[in-house]
Amino acid sequence: MKNMFSLAGQIALVTGASRGLGFGMAEAMAEAGATVVLNGRDAATLQVRARELQQRGLQADIAPFDVTDEAAASAGVAAVVKNHGALDILIANAGIHHSSPLAGWKMEDWRRVMNTNLDACFFLAQQAAIAMMPQRSGRIIFTASLTGLMGRPTIPAYCSSKAGLAGLMRSLAVELGGHGITCNAIAPGYFETDMSAKMRSDAATVERINGRIPLQRWGTPDDVAGVAVFLASSAAAYITGQQIVVDGGMGIAL
Ligand SMILES: NC(=O)c1ccc[n+]([C@@H]2O[C@H](COP(=O)([O-])OP(=O)(O)OC[C@H]3O[C@@H](n4cnc5c(N)ncnc54)[C@H](OP(=O)(O)O)[C@@H]3O)[C@@H](O)[C@H]2O)c1
Repeated sequence: MKNMFSLAGQIALVTGASRGLGFGMAEAMAEAGATVVLNGRDAATLQVRARELQQRGLQADIAPFDVTDEAAASAGVAAVVKNHGALDILIANAGIHHSSPLAGWKMEDWRRVMNTNLDACFFLAQQAAIAMMPQRSGRIIFTASLTGLMGRPTIPAYCSSKAGLAGLMRSLAVELGGHGITCNAIAPGYFETDMSAKMRSDAATVERINGRIPLQRWGTPDDVAGVAVFLASSAAAYITGQQIVVDGGMGIAL
């Protein structure tokens, strides 16, 4: 039987792949046969992560650039196409967090979060789509968040950026469907990564959150990795404009 989840021969660019959810998704896609191009801001870290995959016989390359730097991001996408002959899958995953009681928010903090989490995803998706259109195929996947669907205090920019990503994803899905390109999002709940390290350092917070999750634990990068492979694979050929929530059931529990 044909393996519907194989990504053999596919070229995937994953932003924010130096660690956390991005590296987990990149690793799983490489295991499914893709050549994965790891993005982050630090070339040395990316080299180490790419070597980890290469030593396991997987195909990995790096594309160090800051996703908020439009010239660098555009050149990064062009380099993937030049070096690998195509760009089949974009996972726009890089994201940042900033938390403060409302009165303490500065506009520069708001803009920094929106710029990384939403503006940069728009620009990268645009650049990727331009590369994918002549191929008449492609997959664009955003890492959104449960906080784009449910409110959480002290992180208004993060919640707004992730809700905005869902709108961007639907708009692109409608516009790009005719070009053979799908656009979807993964919306994680609470995950064990560096981003949540401060929250997880407080045992009472971990327990309180576990108590609200039907599966009673925080997610790990493996919990989103398979969803990324699925959305990038031919198994998801007829799925576009969708946001898949991966939250252990938190968002459906009263
Ligand atoms: N962890 C959670 O509970 C959770 C829940 C819902 C959604 N998410 C989303 O999942 C995504 C990944 O988060 P994570 O938890 O894996 O976070 P993380 O461990 O903090 O990793 C963030 C990644 O983004 C990269 N990055 C940040 N700013 C960048 C920039 N300007 N240019 C290029 N790369 C940049 C970082 O690379 P360098 O620092 O090496 O450049 C790193 O690889 C984010 O979009 C986040 O909002 C996370």
